[in-house]
Amino acid sequence: MKIYVPMDSAAKALGAEDVVAALRAAAPEAQIIRTGTRGMIWLEPLVEIEIDGVRHGYGPATVGDVGGILDGTSPKALGPVEHLDWMKRQTRLTFARTGVIDPLDLEDYAAHGGLVGLRRAIAMDAHDIVAEVTKSGLRGRGGAGFPTGIKWKTVQEAQAPQKYIVCNADEGDSGTFADRMIMEGDPFSLVEGMAIAGIGVGATRGYVYLRSEYPDAIAVMCRAVEIARGAGVLGSDVLGSGHAFDMEIRVGAGAYVCGEETALLNSLEGKRGVVRAKPPLPALEGFLGRPTVVNNVISLATVPVIFERGAQHYADFGLGRSRGTVTLQIAGNVARGGLFETAFGITLGEVVNDLGGGTMTGRPVKAVQVGGPLGAYIPVSNFDAPLGYEELDAKGGLLGHAGLVVFDDSADMLQMARFAMEFCAVESCGKCTPCRIGAVRGVETIDRIAAGDGTAIPLLTDLCETMKDGSLCALGGFTPFPVMSALTHFPNDFATQQEAAE
Ligand code: NAI
Ligand code: SF4
Repeated sequence: MKIYVPMDSAAKALGAEDVVAALRAAAPEAQIIRTGTRGMIWLEPLVEIEIDGVRHGYGPATVGDVGGILDGTSPKALGPVEHLDWMKRQTRLTFARTGVIDPLDLEDYAAHGGLVGLRRAIAMDAHDIVAEVTKSGLRGRGGAGFPTGIKWKTVQEAQAPQKYIVCNADEGDSGTFADRMIMEGDPFSLVEGMAIAGIGVGATRGYVYLRSEYPDAIAVMCRAVEIARGAGVLGSDVLGSGHAFDMEIRVGAGAYVCGEETALLNSLEGKRGVVRAKPPLPALEGFLGRPTVVNNVISLATVPVIFERGAQHYADFGLGRSRGTVTLQIAGNVARGGLFETAFGITLGEVVNDLGGGTMTGRPVKAVQVGGPLGAYIPVSNFDAPLGYEELDAKGGLLGHAGLVVFDDSADMLQMARFAMEFCAVESCGKCTPCRIGAVRGVETIDRIAAGDGTAIPLLTDLCETMKDGSLCALGGFTPFPVMSALTHFPNDFATQQEAAE
């Protein structure tokens, strides 16, 4: 009997290790295979039993459920996992293998389409590799949505004795976990994507800058790099191609601002994580002053499937200038939270109400914050907004890393605006005044409004304009998004105390 149980840290946090121990004790003859998560976090730990080649799910499983799962009488039976609505409705390109394979089994990876893309890239001219990425329409999935092919072209055309690929795995946005999920569930896809990037732009070394808060991802990635090196996927002669590319994992110490690419590069160089002025762009003067591709985990982990299935296949999905798929992370006060990969174009309403099932508390949805702590609060009246970079921008939002945090009608939006300013004050690197001082003044100004001083509202608006226009990086520059969206869409939350005082 083959039993699959995730070893993803979300599943572990929900009791997967105890369930595995109980399964081992009750069925010592069974083969238990550890996988990543399918992304249906509300069903974790999700136990899958293979019957006639079809995997049947049981979840959320507890130790007490094990007997029933093994003798087929469990009320937690969900049927074939691939037939579940959540799975059927997805277009899983980047996450095709996550939850399916043993993350550290390179043969299993290859048996599910792994390394096909790298072998194809090896046979191509470097210019054609970059052109393929451009043709796919892939844009930076870290948040900014900059065309990946153009970034790679800049690095490719730069003349330098050494170039680098740096993967930004400092996934710091609230409500986001896609980077972690792929690193824990399908690490070779990131290794393969980085190798293709290296061969395409002429970089022989890569680094994954991974946050210390992800110990499981660090362990899995380190082991995956060792295995890939041992199998000749990394090293001085990648898969016998004559190209050299090797990589290592570096661990960050937990500053949010180190997710900003230039602060990240400083940290990687052993310096304090302070933002550098741009230009020069990292593509021209990045790690150790050399041309560097800095891409997010999802951007790089999507590259193999683009080469495996062809750029056109990828580009055929999506909406407007947002091509391919978006890996939505649904979190917060929501009945069904998890990762859902789909073509750009799905509306916020479909995601929150239909897929997410509304709030976990059962109360009406009040708002969704899209794009992390620097993203706008979107009210229900804008839930017809299709998810695409430009489409959300038109509604005053920001797709960012595609994390969604749902709030019910008990949320106090003035307090959420205060939290945004406080977060910025705590995480500011201190380099520029609008952010360093503005965020502190922002907290004070919101406290004045909360105390009933309505005259502080125009001051807050003015401060937000200054932070937006005068900050050096997205932390200070984007904090006004949550603050102003809260003020614009939920004015009553800012008026309550004032009216009470009157
Ligand atoms: P940006 O718009 O300044 O740059 C985007 C990327 O394109 C950078 O890598 C930049 O170096 C590159 N680039 C720009 N022009 C180029 C050119 N001509 N040639 C080559 N490369 C070029 O945005 P930034 O500041 O890097 O990122 C801001 C975004 O980060 C926000 O949208 C926010 O959503 C996101 N973010 C994500 C977080 C996460 O946890 N994933 C955390 C915080 C913010
Ligand atoms: Fe540093 Fe804030 Fe300025 Fe960014 S906006 S450079 S985090 S002080």
